[in-house]
Amino acid sequence: MTQHLAAPATPDSATRTAWWRDAVIYQVYPRSFADGNGDGMGDLQGIRARLPHLRDLGVDAVWLSPFYASPQADAGYDVADYRAVDPMFGTLLDADALLRDAHDLGLRVIVDLVPNHSSDRHDWFRRALGDGPGSPLRDRYHFRPGKGTDGELPPNDWESVFGGPAWTRTTDPDGTPGDWYLHLFAPEQPDFNWEHPAVRDEFRSVLRFWLDMGADGFRVDVAHGLVKAAGLPDIGHHDQLRLLGNDTMPFFDQDGVHEIYRSWRKVLAEYAGDRILVAEAWTPTVERTAHYVRPDEMHQAFNFQYLSTHWDAAELRAVIDGSLAAMRPVGAPATWVLSNHDVTRHTTRFANPPGLGTQLRTPGDRALGLRRARAASLLMLALPGSAYLYQGEELGLPDVTDLPDEARQDPSFHRAEGQDGFRDGCRVPIPWTVEGPSYGFGTGGSWLPQPAGWGELSVQAQTGDPASTLELYRAALRVRREQPGLGAGDALEWNAAPDGVLSFRRESFVCTANTTGAAVRLPVPGRMLLASGPVRVAGDEVELPADTTAWWAV
Ligand code: GLC
Repeated sequence: MTQHLAAPATPDSATRTAWWRDAVIYQVYPRSFADGNGDGMGDLQGIRARLPHLRDLGVDAVWLSPFYASPQADAGYDVADYRAVDPMFGTLLDADALLRDAHDLGLRVIVDLVPNHSSDRHDWFRRALGDGPGSPLRDRYHFRPGKGTDGELPPNDWESVFGGPAWTRTTDPDGTPGDWYLHLFAPEQPDFNWEHPAVRDEFRSVLRFWLDMGADGFRVDVAHGLVKAAGLPDIGHHDQLRLLGNDTMPFFDQDGVHEIYRSWRKVLAEYAGDRILVAEAWTPTVERTAHYVRPDEMHQAFNFQYLSTHWDAAELRAVIDGSLAAMRPVGAPATWVLSNHDVTRHTTRFANPPGLGTQLRTPGDRALGLRRARAASLLMLALPGSAYLYQGEELGLPDVTDLPDEARQDPSFHRAEGQDGFRDGCRVPIPWTVEGPSYGFGTGGSWLPQPAGWGELSVQAQTGDPASTLELYRAALRVRREQPGLGAGDALEWNAAPDGVLSFRRESFVCTANTTGAAVRLPVPGRMLLASGPVRVAGDEVELPADTTAWWAV
């Protein structure tokens, strides 16, 4: 096992001021953002037409979830051809036009790369199956004989993240039961064998393909999963899903992954224009996450510890301090995120009692959830580093918790004990207009049913209403660009504050956040810039209502 020690963090001045260090990056989930051809499914033309919304919102970059050729067994995270656009999303020409339009509007574009597994319809895998045992193509995946007298048992005891065994048995071309193959996710997502040089070459080539097209970077799916422990050892017990992200697993966060990202960084360095790699890496600690963003590896890693933190001042402060401390030695910016396409939207998480996890089925107290979500978003956007927004959070959208079972498409919904399963609730197409079929999402229907009243939360309904969540986000991103102290950096200074309240300073900026259910009185820190709720300033005292964040110039 190679141990790569962090080089001392001495970013040169160009790196220190690079765009991504304080970027606000907006995740577009192509299926659900905007439908350009009226077939009920979002697409690249739809995204193109709605880019001005993102420019007006004031984000720096867009991250697009996968739009590649895919049978959609896992909503596009099962890629059959890494260099083609799925016809349901458009064509390569549409992707090219989207990149150009975004760049013309001053928006950078990050595409999703899915290197841990392909689709079972990928040419390599189809041929590996079709050619039968002994096919050299099988070495590009993890094929193994089964255990038991007739090979009827899986080769080891690993469980799929989506529930059930992580192995599926194949049928040989002559119709007899054959070897098994590994899939950490759905059976339609066979894991690549990253020890194979062809796999490594192929992905460097795929990187170049999208870099040549003009992509500004990659969000790397399951970046912690590519390398498996030698010999694929048993874990020794069940209930493995509980351990994911908390413990060392033989299929996650193996030290060997870092060599891959060092080679990718070199590929990016061949290109002009500050392109970036962003890790989706679930690791047991922020210190382990920091390994992915050492100076010669990736640029950013998602901060899932932050995403999983409750609306609680002490917990938030601990995670903020821990994240900044973990990133500082490697010189990478901290990142912050509250929602994405895999978890219940934070509006709904905060509407429910803490401790229920990130996959919820209950709407909870919606007014409370929205109040807290607005406060949490303002707190996040005040932190040093880069922030990720998920489409629709700028509208304060709740999760749709009452989707009928027959409408659900999440592949793990139907697999017993899957970790996920309720991810459709945050994937419902977003509302653009008050009226109309699918509320402006498109001219037809919507692949997941939108709830009644969705139009009241639309971009059209909220635009111009100073009390709306959309205008709060627009104002926050404007202030973030203008106010010294907001954005880049790796430190903040905590001010004394009552229990349940966070107050910190950065240069001439102060953020105060009340995470409690009761109003608190504080000395006025300065001139109020923005607040997530109705803050009252009286003389030199401010009354910060329950679950409210305020920004101040000092
Ligand atoms: C990542 C994606 C998720 C997908 C999984 C398998 O976690 O964010 O949506 O299901 O990888 O590719």
